[in-house]
Amino acid sequence: MIALKTVAFFDAKSYDRESFSRFADDEINIRFFENKLNADTVSIAACCDGVCAFVNDTLDKEVIQKLAEYKVGIIAMRCAGYNNVDLKAAEGLIKVARVPAYSPYAVAEHAMGLILTLNRKLHRAYIRTRDHNFSLEGLTGFDLNGKTVGIIGTGKIGRCFADICRGFGMNIIGFDPYESDEFAGKYTSLDELLEASDIISLHCPLTRENHHLINENTISKMKNGAYVINTSRGLLIDTAALIAGLKSGRIGAAGLDVYEEETALFFEDYSDEIIPDDTLSTIISMPNVIVTSHQAFLTREALDGIAKTTMENLRAYFAGEELKNEIKL
Ligand code: NAI
Repeated sequence: MIALKTVAFFDAKSYDRESFSRFADDEINIRFFENKLNADTVSIAACCDGVCAFVNDTLDKEVIQKLAEYKVGIIAMRCAGYNNVDLKAAEGLIKVARVPAYSPYAVAEHAMGLILTLNRKLHRAYIRTRDHNFSLEGLTGFDLNGKTVGIIGTGKIGRCFADICRGFGMNIIGFDPYESDEFAGKYTSLDELLEASDIISLHCPLTRENHHLINENTISKMKNGAYVINTSRGLLIDTAALIAGLKSGRIGAAGLDVYEEETALFFEDYSDEIIPDDTLSTIISMPNVIVTSHQAFLTREALDGIAKTTMENLRAYFAGEELKNEIKL
């Protein structure tokens, strides 16, 4: 038995409330807040024992030091990536846990969804037929069968995506500093991958080393008309260089579930406003670009997996048990 613990749950949405209610615990009181966690909102956690945060919360040194002052003992990230947490600042002050795996299928299937939509112009066809425009002009795609897909990052999601691509009869190549026997394709260097791929899909975490991995230089090595798909983290792509590549035709299409400046915008409804981000406005306006707002994870199975593991992490921490999913420097 542990005493009732309170956890401040930031950036809460209706789907979070639903999935977490299915894994509720009598000894953990989850208090849902719609605010994103940052220096302005951290005081919400003042009387709490833990916080639960997501991809667009800001867990920098200032926020972490405040949390420690409030005696918050654990940051339970309800996601796999943790590039938004200053682990150095947290070391010795506060535990950080994450959900290392939930549904790799959710993200991999979304990546393929972006490819199919862009290639077969489904987004344009949907709008046309609703307007009783049954013309096929401008909707020509290409067969995926026989084309080369380059997968950067062949971990759980990248491998799952490779299996999906195999089902389409694609030639699969991959780049990863840690190669896996379970990868369905052939490993190459990054340069070889950039040069040979008709479609490049990013499935690596964001690290200090790979910030703007897709930039003017790497784009110049790509095949003319290559597709770029990013369901990983926005900062892997220099968006200005991507726009230049799309304008020149070097990049044939881009499917983006993440965007480098997404924190202030994604997950919220700004449909009644003019958004203050001209770069995002430009890229969204392009007919060969699809932007989804970090929704690749959003399946029932993934949400349940996230809620289950997050609650297990919190329970283990509050019971003084081993924190299996702790993130350490
Ligand atoms: P994972 O840890 O299983 O695999 C990541 C792979 O990337 C590892 O094999 C690693 O060696 C490799 N890698 C690291 N740095 C690299 C580099 N510079 N170049 C090439 N490969 C590199 O992670 P998992 O579960 O496959 O997730 C991958 C990423 O997907 C996460 O880090 C996260 O950023 C993103 N993600 C996005 C979601 C969304 O909703 N859009 C949801 C879940 C994850």
